[in-house]
This record gives sequence, C-alpha cells and structure tokens, in this order.
Amino acid sequence: MYNEIVMDHFTNPRNVGEIADADGVGETGSFKCGDTMTLYIKVENEIIVDAKFQTFGCGAAIASSSMLTEMVKGMSIDEAMRLTNQDVADRLGGLPPLKLHCSNLAADALHNAIENYRRRRAAAS
Ligand code: FES
Repeated sequence: MYNEIVMDHFTNPRNVGEIADADGVGETGSFKCGDTMTLYIKVENEIIVDAKFQTFGCGAAIASSSMLTEMVKGMSIDEAMRLTNQDVADRLGGLPPLKLHCSNLAADALHNAIENYRRRRAAAS
C-alpha cells in the first residue's frame, strides 16, 4: 500500500527525537485517529538549521514527519511556513488517499513550531 520512499522513511525515520534547547516547539494531533506529533526546530538568522520529531502515529505519519524534517533544514522560516501537507506527500511520491490526512500532522506541527518560535522572539524583544 505504501511506495518505496514512504517505506524507507517509515522503517528508517530521520531526525527522531527531541531538541532540548529548541527555539520552537509545535504539537498537533489528529481528531481522525488520535495520533500526535511534536516537532522541534532550531533557528539561526531566520533559517531552520535543525529539526527533530516525536510521532505517535501510523506509518504514513512517521514517514511524513521524517521527510518534513529533511525538507525544512536550510529553509527560511517564511518558506517553511508556506510548506503544505501536499508538498510533503509529493516528496514522498504520494500517499494512499486514505492516508493523506496523516501528512497534515507534520505540516501542522511545523507551522505550530514556527508560531511558537515567533512568539518566543516577540516575548524576548
Ligand atoms: Fe493517524 Fe495516520 S492514521 S496519522
């Protein structure tokens, strides 16, 4: 049911874990299935230099999270804010229709992490 890229990121996920001194943390969950994801980002000069995730979810959610962390490293936070779940699904070579919502988890967690980063910056200035 999953293609080779999805299976690779599911069975060998990149960037799993926590960044203890993260600049932004985003959490999200799916009402559809109860799965959750937390994304940590490290930002320098408005560029995402590191990203890690913890996902309690299905194979598609884990693959989406893994791919997303690879995609956002080196992106400006403005670019990353425009990243969509479709972008992640496309980079994975597509997801089965029933599993498309799983990639929302990763994109939503990223956007929440960026908002959290911006709030922290605003509070510090
Ligand atoms: Fe829940 Fe995929 S079934 S995120």
